This record gives sequence, structure tokens and C-alpha cells, in this order.
Amino acid sequence: MELERGKVAVVTGAASGIGLALAERLAVAGMAVVLSDIEEDKAAEQARRLAGTHGVETLAVRTDVSEAAQVEELARAAWDRFGGVHLVCNNAGVAATADPWLGPLSAWEWVMGVNFWGVVHGVRAFLPYLVLGGGGHIVNTASMAGVFPGFTPAYDASKHAVVAVSEGLYTMLRAAQLPVGVSVLCPGWVRTQLMDAERNWPDELGAAPGATGGAGVMAGHVRRAIDEGMTPAAVADRVADAVTGNRFWVFPHADFLELAVRRWERIAEGLDPEPPGQIPGLPPFEQLLAEMQAAAGPDPAGS
Ligand SMILES: NC(=O)c1ccc[n+]([C@@H]2O[C@H](COP(=O)([O-])OP(=O)(O)OC[C@H]3O[C@@H](n4cnc5c(N)ncnc54)[C@H](O)[C@@H]3O)[C@@H](O)[C@H]2O)c1
Repeated sequence: MELERGKVAVVTGAASGIGLALAERLAVAGMAVVLSDIEEDKAAEQARRLAGTHGVETLAVRTDVSEAAQVEELARAAWDRFGGVHLVCNNAGVAATADPWLGPLSAWEWVMGVNFWGVVHGVRAFLPYLVLGGGGHIVNTASMAGVFPGFTPAYDASKHAVVAVSEGLYTMLRAAQLPVGVSVLCPGWVRTQLMDAERNWPDELGAAPGATGGAGVMAGHVRRAIDEGMTPAAVADRVADAVTGNRFWVFPHADFLELAVRRWERIAEGLDPEPPGQIPGLPPFEQLLAEMQAAAGPDPAGS
């Protein structure tokens, strides 16, 4: 699909990071852009900035993507304002820093709610409008954690689910010969506010758990890796290329992809999982494990 004036894009999680860079890249191409985010004021401010800087129409909509009704409302708002939608980027996402096994279950619910259900809601709400409008493209933001588990289990699970949903959608649309393309974005580290995601922790889930002990050590290393990661603008350029070239996979980080390939080679040989060794940007696994064990305190079994 060409990215050009006269077309309309919707981006969720557009107030910050990758979503904001996507919104800007699409505005540069001349598209009208709907910036949707749970952070309403920031989305509105960025919508005004993009309209002023790039001479395009923009609309800011407050949406919690984990709520189906709110995403349906977003789709209606985009259609009502612009009379069409051509590109949908289901991008909003969060990372919880709590220990997956000792921390609260609410951290899993939150991560799955935004990262997985947010994408499902986005596809269900927008697909009828894309088809009704004669075609378009859907971009779902997963992660390298969607093809290689090695970050935190809830995040890995949510992103594996996004990859699976996206592949299923792609093949279904192809088989049905519907004119809607699909891409899945799987970045490694990108310089964004992801490690401050708990700023949007929902009140109804109680206090945000935060990270302590070993989980805190891991969160600190991930924060540093993200601070030194790829720029969101570079990621947005890769997405734009994939949409115009109608390509499914978007892997901006080749070094991470090698880990995924090695994992699948072991799977094909029937070998059990092995520790990841060296994830780019993080200390070697053995060192990471030792630091996490030291931070976790004495062994409760006293061994
Ligand atoms: N930064 C990375 O290294 C990295 C790597 C791989 C994948 N990702 C993915 O990229 C996507 C964008 O994250 P980012 O890194 O730009 O982080 P970010 O925190 O800078 O941006 C995320 C945006 O999503 C919004 N958001 C959070 N909860 C929401 C909700 N319930 N409904 C609607 N909007 C909500 C936030 O307000 C924020 O504007 C996420 O899906 C994330 O998992 C990021």
C-alpha cells in the first residue's frame, strides 16, 4: 500500500516512542493520522504538533486498547471524521517489571490486556472498515520477544501471541483474497519510555508492583539496553518500507534474529531449551543469573 496524501492512518500508543515515530512518519508521507493513546493530553499535544509541522489533518482520541468498546469507539471516531481508514498500527504496549512467579497476578493481566487483547480488539474493530473502504494494511507491534522468549514470561507470552494472531490473520486474508495486508513488527531494543510503562498502571488493579530483588536487576539492565537502543524513527522507516512493499515480517535488529534462528534449529533437532547465552545489550546470561540470585537474598531452603 502506498503511504500518501488522501489516506488515513490510525496509530495506537501514539503519544510516545515507536507509536509517535510511526505517526510522524505517516504524517511526513502526507497521510491524515489518528493518534490514539491512554495518555490523552500527550496525544492531543502531538496531534497538534504533527498537524502544524507537516500540514496534515490529525485527530487525537483517548483509548484504552485493553477495552474492546473503547477500540470500537476509536474506529467509529476515525471513520466519522475522515470517512475512511487505510492503515491501522496496533502498537500500544506495556512491560511489567514485577517478578512473574512471586509478584501479583495482576501484572500478567495488565500485560496481556494491553499487548495481546489490545491487538485483538484493534483487528476486530478495524477490519470491517478496511474491507468496507476497499482495502488497506494492518501493522501489529510484537517484539523479538515474540519469536524468542528471553525477557520476562508475561511479556514474552503476550508478544508470541501477537505474532501468532498476526500470522493467522495474514494467511486468512490471503486465502479469502481480501485486499488487506498485514505486517508484524518485531524490534529488539528501541529508545522509548517502555520501562516507565507502569506510569499507566490501572488504578483498579491496586498499587503498581514495581520490581524488587532479581526482577529489579533484570529491569535495570533492560532499561540501560533500551536507553542505548535504536531510534524510534529508524524503526518507523522500516515499518513504512514493509507497508509499501507489502511484507509481513519487520525485523529491525538482525543480531536478535540470530537468537531466534538458533532456537528453531534446536527445536528442529529435538533439543531441550538452553539459556540464551548472550542477548544483545544485556550481560552474559551466567552473570545476569548471578546478579539476580545475589539480589534475591539468601536461599529460603538454607542450602
Ligand atoms: N522499546 C523497545 O525496546 C521495544 C521493543 C520491542 C517491542 N516494543 C513494543 O513497542 C510498542 C510501543 O512501545 P514503546 O517502546 O514505544 O513504549 P512507550 O512507553 O514509549 O510507548 C507506549 C505507548 O503506549 C501507550 N499505552 C500504554 N497503555 C495503553 C493502553 N492501555 N491503551 C492505549 N495506549 C496505551 C503509552 O501511553 C505510550 O504512549 C509496545 O507494543 C512495545 O511492547 C518496544
